[in-house]
Amino acid sequence: MQNIAWIDGIYSDLSEAKVSIEDRGYLLGDGVYEVIRVYNGQPFYLDAHLQRLHRSAEAIRINLPLSIEQVKKTVLELVEKSSCSEGYIYMQLTRGSASRDHLFPADTAPSLVMYVRELKPIPEIDAVKPQMAITLPDERWLNCYIKSTNLLPNLLARQKAAEAGAVEALLYRQGGIVTEGTRSNVFAVVDGKVRTHPATNLILAGITRGIVIDIIQELSIPFLEKPFNLQELETAEEVWVTSTTMEVNPIKAVDNKLLKSPAPGPVCKQLMEAFRNKIAANCLEDVK
Ligand code: PDD
Repeated sequence: MQNIAWIDGIYSDLSEAKVSIEDRGYLLGDGVYEVIRVYNGQPFYLDAHLQRLHRSAEAIRINLPLSIEQVKKTVLELVEKSSCSEGYIYMQLTRGSASRDHLFPADTAPSLVMYVRELKPIPEIDAVKPQMAITLPDERWLNCYIKSTNLLPNLLARQKAAEAGAVEALLYRQGGIVTEGTRSNVFAVVDGKVRTHPATNLILAGITRGIVIDIIQELSIPFLEKPFNLQELETAEEVWVTSTTMEVNPIKAVDNKLLKSPAPGPVCKQLMEAFRNKIAANCLEDVK
């Protein structure tokens, strides 16, 4: 496949794609983004991602330069042109390019860019190695429901996690309430019930989180959309994180303490299987 970019209507090879040095995304982090997984040449839950892009844009008062239908058409065209089978689409919308000013520029058109890059196919369940997580204070702002390109607190926490040999940092706010990971949502099985933070302003309502909740409900697994705290996390029966690129990812230890039962536990394993079935149902039919 070819890694291709689309910038405000123009296609190019990703290595040659350029935006202005005065783009407000670059200078000020004045933008929002999406990451969409492509399985078998088909974007997974594209409509849900585009709805969230629309919500994020609205929240920071940027008008999408195209209708959602046109963005969708462009995404499908991009995937087709690149001959992508397994990959992801990165999409970023900024307030455009203008002389640097904290104020919104009056007559500047927003800028929409997207590109597609190759990824490995989703591994078989037995090939997924459960990993460690650490906990860190959530130092982000109070509008985490917006998928903003301002990711510095996420990056700093993720870097600390990597340096501690962990795949993810699980973030907590006052009272030890666990919100989410730096780039994922987090679930735990506490006293036999699956729990995750409700979709408030304190977390990003992950598309994968939504799919996993649907599966939990389809399978009648006991579930509460209720936050858990650090103590409950420490004694949880199972923990996993979810995201577009990490899918359903089992956690075996938190802050260097192994969980009660070996990961992936029975609930996580069931969800990993059902998640793969969702991919098959959505992306493996109508093969191009
Ligand atoms: N991250 N929470 C945060 C803070 C995230 O950045 C992400 C996704 C998620 C999971 O959302 P979804 O299931 O829609 O991917 C939760 C993307 C993948 C990223 O920044 O690369």
